Amino acid sequence: MAVPYRLKKAFLNLLLTISACYFYTVRFVFWFVNYFFRERVYVTPPTDRLLLISATQAVRMISKKEISSTALVESYIHRIEQVNNTINAVVVKLFDRARQQATEVDTFMALADEEDIQKKLEEKPLYGVPFTMKDALEVENEIVTCGVFNRKSTKCERTAEAIKRLQAAGGILLAITNVPEVCMWVESVNTIYGRSKNPYDARRMTGGSSGGEGALLGAAGSVVGVGSDIGGSIRMPSFFNGVFGLKPTPGVIPLIGHVPEPTGYKTHMLRIGPMCRFAEDLPLMLRIMAGENAKSLNLHEPVNGKKLRIFYMEGITGSPIIQPLEEEMRYALKKAVNFLERKYDVVAQQIELPSAKHVMEYFTLSMHEDTTDPAFNKLMLCTNGTKGEVNCYTELFKYFTGNSNHTLSGIIAGIIDSRDPPFSESHTKDLLYKRDRLKRQVKELLGNDGILLFPSWPCTAMFHNEPILAPFNFCYTALWNVLSVPVVQCPLGLDSHGLPLGVQVIGNQYTDRNLIAIAQVLEEGFNGWTPAGPL
Ligand SMILES: *[C@@H]1O[C@H](CO)[C@@H](O)[C@H](O)[C@H]1NC(C)=O
Ligand SMILES: *[C@@H]1O[C@H](CO)[C@@H](O)[C@H](O)[C@H]1NC(C)=O
Ligand SMILES: *[C@@H]1O[C@H](CO)[C@@H](O)[C@H](O)[C@H]1NC(C)=O
Repeated sequence: MAVPYRLKKAFLNLLLTISACYFYTVRFVFWFVNYFFRERVYVTPPTDRLLLISATQAVRMISKKEISSTALVESYIHRIEQVNNTINAVVVKLFDRARQQATEVDTFMALADEEDIQKKLEEKPLYGVPFTMKDALEVENEIVTCGVFNRKSTKCERTAEAIKRLQAAGGILLAITNVPEVCMWVESVNTIYGRSKNPYDARRMTGGSSGGEGALLGAAGSVVGVGSDIGGSIRMPSFFNGVFGLKPTPGVIPLIGHVPEPTGYKTHMLRIGPMCRFAEDLPLMLRIMAGENAKSLNLHEPVNGKKLRIFYMEGITGSPIIQPLEEEMRYALKKAVNFLERKYDVVAQQIELPSAKHVMEYFTLSMHEDTTDPAFNKLMLCTNGTKGEVNCYTELFKYFTGNSNHTLSGIIAGIIDSRDPPFSESHTKDLLYKRDRLKRQVKELLGNDGILLFPSWPCTAMFHNEPILAPFNFCYTALWNVLSVPVVQCPLGLDSHGLPLGVQVIGNQYTDRNLIAIAQVLEEGFNGWTPAGPL
């Protein structure tokens, strides 16, 4: 049987070659059109020093009466007004209430003595600091849409648990940021608020689904934010906009009040988590949002980097539907690996996970496993699925006649999702076996002291609409939702187009502490968040 096997292999190689040519052509055409016919517009770096301190530092300075909460909040309001026109990231401004809350903080501080302040900070570790969040977490009395047209005037009746905790910790919610329709695409575009743009190059994508959040952070319009991630929705926008983003261990941050709320295996995949410009804010935000559960993460315990085992992997290979890893991304990965090797005097080990190439099938299966959620075409009308459904084929026609309340990506996702169950019984069984085996393999490999460096995406931020022609690139992040492990995305400077580079650092469940430590070390080595600049 040697011949058929060799034939099969030759056929796969041919397919991979054709696919590589296809992706190369797509990239070239979009680059050509944009380079010659459209101008690069970017957000210039902030000069206000209040925009250049972390949330952790800001709390410290407020507590020492070195800065006021009002000054900080005003600086961010001013910055948002300055940058939003270019990036269209903000969908709801909560400025009046934020100003009022900042005044309350400053009034308290004016009269407080050392002891009062100490007590206040223990209760409220984010005291007086503004934060932002994606348009997919409920906030009482505010309009939160999840990009769904029919929700454009629906006010929420409650506040998501994670947001409640940040507010209880003294955080001031300043703005809500854009997402794609039902949060299921890698570009943040919908028919209510339009399209968000990348602060490093407004011709390009911000990522999704926390794309408005990523863009606002990358533009220094916010210091810390809240995103959520079922296939990369924290890490992709963090990567494309040059900031840190953490998808934490499952079960640590409650999902109550997420729009929509997940069921079945999706509860292992969807995570709410922090996005920020300064790595030291990751543990601060995680601790607050996790509440009592933070104990299970031992975030206070120091990490000895020399005792970590470091692995790296050059992305997903062998799948013709996923774009091959670009050279600058590979180089960035290698640089991060070399940096850690030198820093800790260790040797990193390259690994391969051949069965990872089936990730798109695992993802599709996992999204349907044991779920009782309404189908996607119902969510497109109403996020609890109670208002009928969209006929995606009719809608596709309406879309091309410029007459739809839905986005092209939403309609296509609706069509794909309508296959339920997605695979035959025997194929499902085979896929489940392979997925769970891969899960065990990664778990055994990493143990409690292993970390895996993995490219954030096959390439840096694409031009608008380009990802429709490379729709499966999100597999680079979705793989880790399928396997249900924590991941932090770290910025690694800019590429030759002035766009953020990055890497994902992956660990086993409950080792978030290791990931945060590595994020801080990589920040030292690669300067962390780097604002946009001329080429
Ligand atoms: C943000 O900017 C965009 C683009 O100029 C604008 O359409 C949108 O209304 C702005 N957002 C808010 C909340 O004002
Ligand atoms: C579903 O959401 C709509 C608003 O979009 C609301 O009017 C309705 O009461 C909700 N139904 C349930 C069962 O929660
Ligand atoms: C879009 O929504 C509006 C308001 O709900 C409705 O009047 C209109 O018929 C919808 N358009 C389409 C094409 O469904």
